[in-house]
Amino acid sequence: MKVLFIGDIVGDIGLDAVEKYLPRLKRKYDVDVVIANGENAAKGRGITKRIYQDLLMMGVDVITMGNHTWDQKEIFDFIDDTEYLIRPANFSKEAPGKGMTTVTKNGQTISVINLHGRVFLPAHDEPFEMAEQMIEEAKKVSPIVFVDFHAETTSEKIALGWNLDGKASVVVGTHTHVQTADNRIFPGGTAFISDVGMTGPYDEVLGMKKESVIYRFKTNMPVRFEVPERGPEVLSAFFVDIDDQTGKSKSCERILINKDNPFKG
Ligand SMILES: [Fe+2]
Repeated sequence: MKVLFIGDIVGDIGLDAVEKYLPRLKRKYDVDVVIANGENAAKGRGITKRIYQDLLMMGVDVITMGNHTWDQKEIFDFIDDTEYLIRPANFSKEAPGKGMTTVTKNGQTISVINLHGRVFLPAHDEPFEMAEQMIEEAKKVSPIVFVDFHAETTSEKIALGWNLDGKASVVVGTHTHVQTADNRIFPGGTAFISDVGMTGPYDEVLGMKKESVIYRFKTNMPVRFEVPERGPEVLSAFFVDIDDQTGKSKSCERILINKDNPFKG
């Protein structure tokens, strides 16, 4: 199974970048399943039902979330009815929605799990053992298991990657919006990257207008961070080719498209 994961989609520029490049990426890599992190899709803050539906229309199969899951209050009205929108599994037991889903494409099923880190982020339930238990459950359905670990520090993400080596097919990190160059396949067959990076405004600071961020750093004064609606885009993604029988990854490649690194078909 060939899987493409699109890193944190930020605002309209990010959504436009998905619409523009996803068909070309699907053709180039002969992709079976597309997973995307959509927790910043609604102008940087959460996701709406409309955006969820738009992303499915564009060809995304599963959408994962993170610390901005609840930013758009309307999510409480639709998350329980969505099959392919998941939020971190280690949120409170009170949280609506679910932390894992499955999708079947071309006769092959993949389970997708979303988890949240605990370093420099709000305290959530313990994700390491939870991941192991969830993967055990998922493997009753299919050997192919994908994990999006939405976390701040590279150390926590690399530790989870090693902890799941030979268990998950793929472990990707999200949240920092900067792509790391450490993609690899661990000895047990788990493809890994500390952070896939973001899909959104390129000439800003992590997708937020740079003037506000610079002002905050200079003055320490409160300022509202906003996502620009126009400007050059970046698309960050991770492609993995997984063996259908064993669930182990055979190859992986990180993808970065922007005006400095134009798409090559
Ligand atoms: Fe995040």
